[in-house]
Amino acid sequence: MNHPYPSGREIKLNPKDMIVSKTDPRGVITYGNDKFIEISGYKETELIGSPHNILRHPEMPSAVFYLMWDSIKNGRNIMAVVKNLAKNGDHYWVTTDFDIKRDMEGKIRNYIAFRQAAPKHVIEAIEPLYTKMLEIEKKSWDGCIPRISARLFGRKTNELQPVYRISG
Ligand SMILES: Cc1cc2nc3c(=O)[nH]c(=O)nc-3n(C[C@H](O)[C@H](O)[C@H](O)COP(=O)(O)O)c2cc1C
Repeated sequence: MNHPYPSGREIKLNPKDMIVSKTDPRGVITYGNDKFIEISGYKETELIGSPHNILRHPEMPSAVFYLMWDSIKNGRNIMAVVKNLAKNGDHYWVTTDFDIKRDMEGKIRNYIAFRQAAPKHVIEAIEPLYTKMLEIEKKSWDGCIPRISARLFGRKTNELQPVYRISG
Protein backbone atom coordinates (compact mmCIF):
# COMPACT_ATOMS: atom_id res chain seq x y z
CA MET A 1 0.00 0.00 0.00
CA ASN A 2 1.31 3.47 -0.91
CA HIS A 3 1.83 5.89 1.94
CA PRO A 4 -0.46 8.93 1.70
CA TYR A 5 1.04 12.35 1.11
CA PRO A 6 0.86 14.51 4.28
CA SER A 7 -1.78 17.26 4.07
CA GLY A 8 -0.35 19.26 6.97
CA ARG A 9 -3.78 19.23 8.63
CA GLU A 10 -3.93 18.09 12.24
CA ILE A 11 -6.71 15.88 13.57
CA LYS A 12 -7.48 17.11 17.07
CA LEU A 13 -8.11 14.15 19.32
CA ASN A 14 -10.45 14.16 22.26
CA PRO A 15 -8.28 13.82 25.41
CA LYS A 16 -10.63 11.05 26.56
CA ASP A 17 -10.04 8.94 23.44
CA MET A 18 -8.04 5.76 23.90
CA ILE A 19 -6.61 4.39 20.67
CA VAL A 20 -5.59 0.76 20.99
CA SER A 21 -3.88 -1.63 18.62
CA LYS A 22 -2.26 -5.01 18.97
CA THR A 23 0.51 -6.53 16.89
CA ASP A 24 2.41 -9.77 16.53
CA PRO A 25 6.12 -9.75 17.52
CA ARG A 26 7.10 -8.27 14.13
CA GLY A 27 4.71 -5.32 14.41
CA VAL A 28 1.99 -6.66 12.10
CA ILE A 29 -1.42 -5.38 13.22
CA THR A 30 -3.71 -8.10 14.60
CA TYR A 31 -6.34 -5.91 16.29
CA GLY A 32 -7.47 -2.30 16.48
CA ASN A 33 -10.26 -0.81 18.59
CA ASP A 34 -13.01 1.29 16.99
CA LYS A 35 -11.17 4.57 17.75
CA PHE A 36 -8.00 3.29 16.11
CA ILE A 37 -9.94 2.39 12.98
CA GLU A 38 -11.95 5.65 12.96
CA ILE A 39 -8.97 8.01 13.44
CA SER A 40 -6.70 6.17 11.00
CA GLY A 41 -9.31 6.44 8.26
CA TYR A 42 -8.55 2.91 7.05
CA LYS A 43 -11.00 0.05 6.95
CA GLU A 44 -10.45 -2.66 9.54
CA THR A 45 -9.65 -5.09 6.72
CA GLU A 46 -6.91 -2.74 5.46
CA LEU A 47 -5.34 -2.49 8.91
CA ILE A 48 -5.40 -6.10 10.06
CA GLY A 49 -2.43 -7.91 8.56
CA SER A 50 -0.61 -4.67 7.67
CA PRO A 51 2.70 -3.65 9.24
CA HIS A 52 2.21 -0.88 11.80
CA ASN A 53 4.31 1.48 9.73
CA ILE A 54 1.15 1.95 7.63
CA LEU A 55 0.64 4.96 9.94
CA ARG A 56 4.19 6.19 9.77
CA HIS A 57 4.54 9.91 9.25
CA PRO A 58 7.62 10.91 7.19
CA GLU A 59 8.47 13.60 9.78
CA MET A 60 8.97 10.98 12.51
CA PRO A 61 12.68 10.33 13.17
CA SER A 62 13.78 6.69 12.79
CA ALA A 63 15.58 6.95 16.12
CA VAL A 64 12.28 7.08 17.99
CA PHE A 65 11.26 3.73 16.51
CA TYR A 66 14.78 2.36 16.98
CA LEU A 67 14.55 3.15 20.70
CA MET A 68 10.97 1.95 20.90
CA TRP A 69 11.75 -1.45 19.39
CA ASP A 70 14.94 -1.78 21.42
CA SER A 71 12.87 -1.27 24.54
CA ILE A 72 9.81 -3.42 23.86
CA LYS A 73 11.80 -6.31 22.33
CA ASN A 74 13.64 -6.44 25.65
CA GLY A 75 10.36 -6.47 27.55
CA ARG A 76 10.50 -2.86 28.73
CA ASN A 77 7.63 -0.45 28.29
CA ILE A 78 8.43 2.95 26.84
CA MET A 79 6.40 6.10 26.52
CA ALA A 80 6.75 7.49 23.01
CA VAL A 81 5.34 10.66 21.47
CA VAL A 82 4.33 9.83 17.92
CA LYS A 83 2.99 11.80 14.97
CA ASN A 84 0.82 9.47 12.92
CA LEU A 85 -0.44 9.76 9.39
CA ALA A 86 -4.09 8.98 8.63
CA LYS A 87 -5.21 7.54 5.30
CA ASN A 88 -6.28 10.96 3.97
CA GLY A 89 -2.86 12.50 4.80
CA ASP A 90 -3.98 14.31 7.96
CA HIS A 91 -1.93 13.71 11.10
CA TYR A 92 -2.51 13.28 14.84
CA TRP A 93 -0.14 13.38 17.80
CA VAL A 94 -0.32 10.70 20.48
CA THR A 95 1.52 9.49 23.52
CA THR A 96 1.93 5.72 23.40
CA ASP A 97 2.45 3.11 26.12
CA PHE A 98 3.02 -0.57 25.54
CA ASP A 99 1.88 -3.78 27.13
CA ILE A 100 4.02 -6.80 26.31
CA LYS A 101 2.30 -10.19 26.28
CA ARG A 102 4.32 -13.39 26.58
CA ASP A 103 3.51 -17.06 26.04
CA MET A 104 3.99 -19.81 28.64
CA GLU A 105 7.67 -20.11 27.70
CA GLY A 106 8.23 -16.39 28.21
CA LYS A 107 8.53 -15.60 24.51
CA ILE A 108 6.92 -12.36 23.35
CA ARG A 109 3.57 -13.15 21.73
CA ASN A 110 2.03 -9.71 21.23
CA TYR A 111 2.52 -6.02 21.79
CA ILE A 112 -0.43 -3.82 22.69
CA ALA A 113 -0.17 -0.05 22.21
CA PHE A 114 -2.38 2.33 24.20
CA ARG A 115 -2.48 5.86 22.82
CA GLN A 116 -3.97 9.11 23.98
CA ALA A 117 -3.91 12.64 22.61
CA ALA A 118 -0.51 14.23 23.23
CA PRO A 119 -0.96 17.44 25.23
CA LYS A 120 -0.22 20.65 23.30
CA HIS A 121 2.79 21.58 25.47
CA VAL A 122 4.34 18.17 24.78
CA ILE A 123 3.89 18.56 21.00
CA GLU A 124 5.40 22.05 21.16
CA ALA A 125 8.42 20.74 23.06
CA ILE A 126 9.02 17.62 20.99
CA GLU A 127 8.36 18.89 17.44
CA PRO A 128 11.56 21.02 17.12
CA LEU A 129 13.58 18.13 18.54
CA TYR A 130 12.13 15.69 16.00
CA THR A 131 12.87 18.19 13.20
CA LYS A 132 16.51 18.34 14.31
CA MET A 133 16.75 14.56 14.59
CA LEU A 134 15.28 14.17 11.12
CA GLU A 135 17.87 16.59 9.70
CA ILE A 136 20.64 14.46 11.22
CA GLU A 137 19.06 11.28 9.87
CA LYS A 138 18.70 12.73 6.35
CA LYS A 139 22.48 13.12 6.26
CA SER A 140 22.78 9.48 7.21
CA TRP A 141 24.99 7.32 5.03
CA ASP A 142 24.83 4.28 7.31
CA GLY A 143 22.81 2.93 10.21
CA CYS A 144 24.87 4.65 12.90
CA ILE A 145 23.16 8.01 12.38
CA PRO A 146 19.81 6.95 13.89
CA ARG A 147 21.83 5.85 16.93
CA ILE A 148 23.48 9.28 17.19
CA SER A 149 20.08 10.89 16.77
CA ALA A 150 18.74 8.48 19.44
CA ARG A 151 21.43 9.67 21.86
CA LEU A 152 20.49 13.29 21.21
CA PHE A 153 16.87 12.29 21.83
CA GLY A 154 17.81 10.65 25.15
CA ARG A 155 19.68 13.72 26.29
CA LYS A 156 17.02 16.16 25.21
CA THR A 157 14.13 14.24 26.74
CA ASN A 158 16.04 14.33 30.04
CA GLU A 159 16.33 18.08 29.70
CA LEU A 160 12.69 18.21 28.73
CA GLN A 161 11.53 16.10 31.69
CA PRO A 162 9.38 18.82 33.27
CA VAL A 163 7.37 19.30 30.07
CA TYR A 164 7.71 15.77 28.77
CA ARG A 165 6.14 14.19 31.84
CA ILE A 166 2.51 13.67 31.05
CA SER A 167 0.26 14.69 33.85
CA GLY A 168 -3.01 14.54 31.88
C1 LIG B 1 2.37 -2.27 19.18
C2 LIG B 1 3.04 -1.36 18.19
C3 LIG B 1 2.45 -0.17 17.86
C4 LIG B 1 3.05 0.70 16.95
N1 LIG B 1 2.41 1.87 16.65
C5 LIG B 1 2.94 2.68 15.72
C6 LIG B 1 2.25 3.87 15.34
O1 LIG B 1 1.19 4.22 15.87
N2 LIG B 1 2.84 4.65 14.38
C7 LIG B 1 4.01 4.33 13.78
O2 LIG B 1 4.47 5.08 12.90
N3 LIG B 1 4.68 3.20 14.13
C8 LIG B 1 4.17 2.39 15.09
N4 LIG B 1 4.84 1.26 15.43
C9 LIG B 1 6.20 1.04 14.88
C10 LIG B 1 6.20 0.45 13.50
O3 LIG B 1 6.17 -0.96 13.63
C11 LIG B 1 7.48 0.86 12.72
O4 LIG B 1 8.63 0.45 13.41
C12 LIG B 1 7.58 2.37 12.50
O5 LIG B 1 6.40 2.87 11.90
C13 LIG B 1 8.78 2.74 11.63
O6 LIG B 1 8.62 2.22 10.38
P1 LIG B 1 9.87 1.79 9.48
O7 LIG B 1 10.63 0.80 10.31
O8 LIG B 1 9.30 1.22 8.25
O9 LIG B 1 10.65 3.04 9.26
C14 LIG B 1 4.27 0.37 16.35
C15 LIG B 1 4.88 -0.87 16.68
C16 LIG B 1 4.28 -1.71 17.60
C17 LIG B 1 4.93 -3.01 17.95
